[in-house]
Amino acid sequence: MTDLMSKIISLCKRRGFIFQSSEIYGGFGSCYDFGPLGVEMKNNIKKAWWDEMTKNQNPPAGGIVGLDAAILMSPKVWEASGHLTAGFADELVECKECHKRFRLDELKMKKCPECGGQLTEPRKFNLMMKTHIGPVEDDAAFTYLRAETCQGIYVNFENILNTMRLKIPFGVAQIGKAFRNEITPGDFIYRTREFEQMEMQWFCHPKDAEKYFDYWQKERLNWYINLGIKKENLRIKEVPVKERPHYAKQALDLEYKFPFGWKEIEGIHNRGDWDLSNHSKYSGKDLKYEGYYPYIIETSGGADRSFLAFLCDAYQEILGGRTKTTKAVKEIEILLKLDKKIAPIKIAILPLVRNKPELVKKAKEVYQLLKPHFTCQYDELGSIGRRYRRVDEIGCPWAITIDFETLKDDTVTLRYRDTMKQERVKIKELIKIIKEKLNTQ
Ligand code: GAP
Repeated sequence: MTDLMSKIISLCKRRGFIFQSSEIYGGFGSCYDFGPLGVEMKNNIKKAWWDEMTKNQNPPAGGIVGLDAAILMSPKVWEASGHLTAGFADELVECKECHKRFRLDELKMKKCPECGGQLTEPRKFNLMMKTHIGPVEDDAAFTYLRAETCQGIYVNFENILNTMRLKIPFGVAQIGKAFRNEITPGDFIYRTREFEQMEMQWFCHPKDAEKYFDYWQKERLNWYINLGIKKENLRIKEVPVKERPHYAKQALDLEYKFPFGWKEIEGIHNRGDWDLSNHSKYSGKDLKYEGYYPYIIETSGGADRSFLAFLCDAYQEILGGRTKTTKAVKEIEILLKLDKKIAPIKIAILPLVRNKPELVKKAKEVYQLLKPHFTCQYDELGSIGRRYRRVDEIGCPWAITIDFETLKDDTVTLRYRDTMKQERVKIKELIKIIKEKLNTQ
């Protein structure tokens, strides 16, 4: 674990972004809960993605509709998709001494990295999570938790085409949980066994597949950049043939430079006719469109991985501090420079001091005024400098201070997180001003 990752994990715990699952029972391996700030931020990421796909996108032709399919599906879906065979299995080795298990492709040496013991021969380990359905645990009543959300889209291809009266090309967007029995989960929320995907499946004529493959990779890269991730921390890597997923004709990894190295946050795949032709074969239902199987270009991102990328990219430490508080100057200040759309709390409302009831009363009125419109936090504890530091640390873009002038003229101080600039604004204009700021780039 790098020093920077330890600090980010500690901030997540301390400020209510992410908790270890089942912590009071000693934690449950590689599972995490998103706390009050985490859930707001993750919802903002998902909303930004959903709006991007279903509202803002203007591909050369066609449009994008949404879907929310069940996590549990017929086990036949997974036979047809190829996930039950070797294609969706990692090579696993076990240490003969300490019995720890490792992915072969992650090992740098031929001995156990934990204890130096001898390793077994590699064997294939399928990543699907099996689960029983109904009251009897017999072999006839089982299925799998979905390993990728997109299969729910493919099996609904015809339903969507017909009910929405669409023509090729068109896309279907979906956000939802997926599960994989990863051999080596780790790096905090980077690789877990339960995670959330944001997937868009673009159905097109085979002759247009390359064009859309290029189109979507550029769009996806720009989405991260427009939401504040630094260009130099993103790259697109072509996946070599032997490392491609079993369904992919072409595959790219969109990677982010995490403190633990360059790692994939999104996959862009040309799945050809793999899925629709296999589902036709296994279901007996002909899924051709005008006599051909549409090709599928998919953009497959992870809500959790992009959460971590946004967090890492925004995290800054300022030695000596930038706010003028007496004690704090020697401390390190944390500034989370999250994009305003992603920030979990948009506005902090702070009475200058808390021992003046008229200031507290007025501040609570401002809080009530703004709360229906924005995610707000009211805070009266500690010095004003310390409270600014607390809101900078959670990436809150604006803080409003209610002071003695407020009582005279109904104006407040609006403070900007990144510049610490302060301006005086009228309470009755606050909603309009903040809405305008939120909607501009
Ligand atoms: N439908 C294609 C597909 O699932 P993938 O490259 O296997 O492609 C897509 O996964 C994205 O899902 C990844 O880029 C990542 O963001 C997320 N993801 C996959 N496995 C994950 C895991 N174990 N933990 C967290 N996120 C994961």
